[in-house]
Amino acid sequence: MSKNSIKPVIADADAINHAADLLRRGRLVAFPTETVYGLGADAGNSDAVAAIFKAKGRPTDHPLIVHIADIDSLGDWAATVPEAALKLAHRFWPGPLAMILNKKAGVSPTVTGGQQTVGLRIPDHPVALALLRSFGGGVAAPSANRFCRISPTQALHVSAELGDAVDMILDGGACRVGVESTIIDLSGGKPRLLRPGHITQQQIEAVLQIELLTPSTPAAPAPEISEDIRAPGMMAVHYAPTTPAMRCRAELLPDRIQHLTAAGKKIGVLNYRLDIAETGQVRILRLPEQAASYAQSFYTALRELDNLQLDIILIEQPPQTEAWRAINDRLGKAAAL
Ligand code: TXA
Ligand code: MG
Repeated sequence: MSKNSIKPVIADADAINHAADLLRRGRLVAFPTETVYGLGADAGNSDAVAAIFKAKGRPTDHPLIVHIADIDSLGDWAATVPEAALKLAHRFWPGPLAMILNKKAGVSPTVTGGQQTVGLRIPDHPVALALLRSFGGGVAAPSANRFCRISPTQALHVSAELGDAVDMILDGGACRVGVESTIIDLSGGKPRLLRPGHITQQQIEAVLQIELLTPSTPAAPAPEISEDIRAPGMMAVHYAPTTPAMRCRAELLPDRIQHLTAAGKKIGVLNYRLDIAETGQVRILRLPEQAASYAQSFYTALRELDNLQLDIILIEQPPQTEAWRAINDRLGKAAAL
């Protein structure tokens, strides 16, 4: 973390009111949600929203999610609110689900990346909700990481990512879900799942009573082991900023570790099931075996290993089941960040 990094502030009522005031003045506030920390700006202020893209180093055609405090506010942002959206909102909000709807005419193209649709969600976190209520409007907020890096799930991760490019960081502790929200597109035609998350496809289908379309690219299977760990396309985690990382099937992991150790490599291992001994060359971080708990600590663990200046991070391939879908998606696709 640079010496100019903003120190997180405990999110008590005064801090939250101060943060709302900063938002009103067009400044940037990082805040906790149940999924990951968001980098927020007044969604009605194009200059403030433009500052988000600058702070993140994100291309301006990547649309942002507008966070709102209540279902009634949907009408401030969406041209029409389809029945399906209302059903999902009543069942899952506040919660880790974002919906893409056709935008209202006045919504700034800066927020929507120039698209005719807008992403919306009510986060399930007391600090986020208190901030939204105190501010009284929509808050545009992507994950509070630099573009293509790991999403922050603790306030200090935000300081490490954004330094002083943010005006205030509200500290609300570690995020409960740990991976970004499920995104569903309800802007026309059949509903489509755009990003898997904690709320599963089945849960959504059960509410809507129809089958969802899914992203055209299914979750990638574990890549085969290659001799050249730096071969392009072999990196399972494209967004690991300095350390190459790849998934490895459990049965191949011990051999792989031995092979790399013999080659003098320093290795980090993210396992959840296999018992592996730690040595001077091998740093093990064991995550819980249950998917939801694994997700909760996943980004923190990845970040921790990434800070150790290792040669490679090996990730024990999780099961390819629905419960693990969001994790497999994040392991397989940089685009999800
Ligand atoms: O859990 C979350 O959703 C977190 C917290 C902070 O709420 N936010 C988050 O935002 O993950 P971000 O910007 O890192 O990811 C949002 C994703 C992006 O991939 C973006 O392309 C997509 O949502 N998105 C937003 N608006 C969209 C739209 N109108 N059409 C299609 N995709 C959209
Ligand atoms: Mg993101």
